[in-house]
Amino acid sequence: MSDPNRKGDQLSRSVLVTGGNRGIGLAIARAFADAGDKVAITYRSGEPPAALTELGCLAVRCDITDPEQVEQAYKEIEAQHGPVEILIANAGITKDQLLMRMSEEDFTSVIDTNLTGTFRVVKRANRGMLRAKKGRVVLISSVVGLYGSPGQANYAASKAALVGFARSLARELGSRNITFNVVAPGFVDTDMTKALTEEQRAGIVSQVPLGRYAQPEEIAATVRFLASDDASYITGAVIPVDGGLGMGH
Ligand SMILES: NC(=O)c1ccc[n+]([C@@H]2O[C@H](COP(=O)([O-])OP(=O)(O)OC[C@H]3O[C@@H](n4cnc5c(N)ncnc54)[C@H](OP(=O)(O)O)[C@@H]3O)[C@@H](O)[C@H]2O)c1
Repeated sequence: MSDPNRKGDQLSRSVLVTGGNRGIGLAIARAFADAGDKVAITYRSGEPPAALTELGCLAVRCDITDPEQVEQAYKEIEAQHGPVEILIANAGITKDQLLMRMSEEDFTSVIDTNLTGTFRVVKRANRGMLRAKKGRVVLISSVVGLYGSPGQANYAASKAALVGFARSLARELGSRNITFNVVAPGFVDTDMTKALTEEQRAGIVSQVPLGRYAQPEEIAATVRFLASDDASYITGAVIPVDGGLGMGH
């Protein structure tokens, strides 16, 4: 359903959300679809939720660690929705382990998904954005990338790297009217954090000034803002949506 109050140039943009089949990605996809955009999501496993199809979203199977699958996904999306104008690089994984027990695979698979996978989808999206002379890219990082977290050296390194990646591209492609921003969520109620024990959850909540986890929709609202006309002069920013957990980092 399109929003009659939207500004003209925001109508029905081609939006891609990676990892949009569940969690934060699903909430982001819903937010754009509810506002009338043409939304494509990628999913790696399982089947996309029926709710997405009902919203008119295009679901494309794509593992972002495989460059050929990324190319195929873009071809399919471009054929149905046109070139991607707004990219939300959201897909990510954790493989938590203390350093001395962390294997090469634990480290490289997290980097390959969270950082190199993001590089793959951003690079491919930029082809169309350069031609269109406009584009919005939002990368989903984490408070952990700025703050650090024991047992998450691989994940924190991958998420911190997204900041340097986005800021370099903000400088490289600002003159082409493409913005690159990073959203750094705190702890959000999704499958990723369901893996934590009750004790771990209580420990985290006790450190969050707002005293609770975020709902995925609270991350989605900030992402949508960064893709809106109201954020036209924001690039290279890191926006925390973390209940105050990472303040000062
Ligand atoms: N939850 C939090 O507290 C939190 C906090 C800060 C940042 N984040 C970040 O926010 C993003 C979404 O997190 P979430 O909590 O929604 O996680 P989630 O529920 O575990 O969902 C992760 C999504 O990423 C997809 N994905 C993983 N590896 C992929 C790959 N190789 N190729 C394509 N898709 C892949 C998953 O697809 P499948 O369904 O096929 O596995 C799924 O759609 C992640 O980047 C995460 O690091 C989360």
